[in-house]
Amino acid sequence: MLRPATVYDVPRIQEIINSHAELGKMLFKSLAQLFEDLRDFAVVEQDGRVVGCCAVTIIWADLAEVRSLAVDGRFIGRGIGRQLVEWCVEEARRLHIRKLMSLTYEQRFFEKLGFDVVPKESLPLKVWSDCVRCPKREGCDEIAMVRVLEDVPIVELPAAPPTPRGVSIPVLEYVEED
Ligand SMILES: CC(C)(COP(=O)(O)OP(=O)(O)OC[C@H]1O[C@@H](n2cnc3c(N)ncnc32)[C@H](O)[C@@H]1OP(=O)(O)O)[C@@H](O)C(=O)NCCC(=O)NCCS
Repeated sequence: MLRPATVYDVPRIQEIINSHAELGKMLFKSLAQLFEDLRDFAVVEQDGRVVGCCAVTIIWADLAEVRSLAVDGRFIGRGIGRQLVEWCVEEARRLHIRKLMSLTYEQRFFEKLGFDVVPKESLPLKVWSDCVRCPKREGCDEIAMVRVLEDVPIVELPAAPPTPRGVSIPVLEYVEED
């Protein structure tokens, strides 16, 4: 069962995300970050236990980002990741947001879900807000991927400021969390 996340889910969401973060596959999330972003999250529950989570964050009028996609290691390969990304697609569609993006190491998985690799520089600067918390920020090796929802009309709204040439991420001093 896929449903919007509630505060009760947050410790379990953190456990799943951080189990993959320990393997370098995604960024660690604090409880504070998860509560702040909770409205963006959906979870998949099986037999009363949360086994996967995902957030979709609005970046601009024409762009949303799939974030914090994580499936419990014991439940990988059962279609849960697909279900969560398809929920992001439906959310983007509901909001009339035409493009969905992901920064990922899971290129094959996202290709199966209709995403294409794009140059990182093609994404707006606002996308890189999380990079200040990433130890790899000076040498980002994630792959930028986008799925265009062709059935969502193009909006005539101001474009997001582009990433300036040569600058991919904000440069701030990284402080290790306790
Ligand atoms: C990536 C992840 C979310 C995939 O979840 P999942 O539930 O195992 O994926 P699904 O079972 O829904 O797979 C959907 C399709 O993608 C394929 N797929 C999944 N992971 C894949 C991989 N690493 N390489 C190639 N194909 C993959 C599946 O075979 C399936 O194909 P099919 O529909 O033709 O059978 C999961 O492996 C995970 O949590 N990884 C660790 C955290 C992470 O990397 N998150 C992504 C951050 S952007």
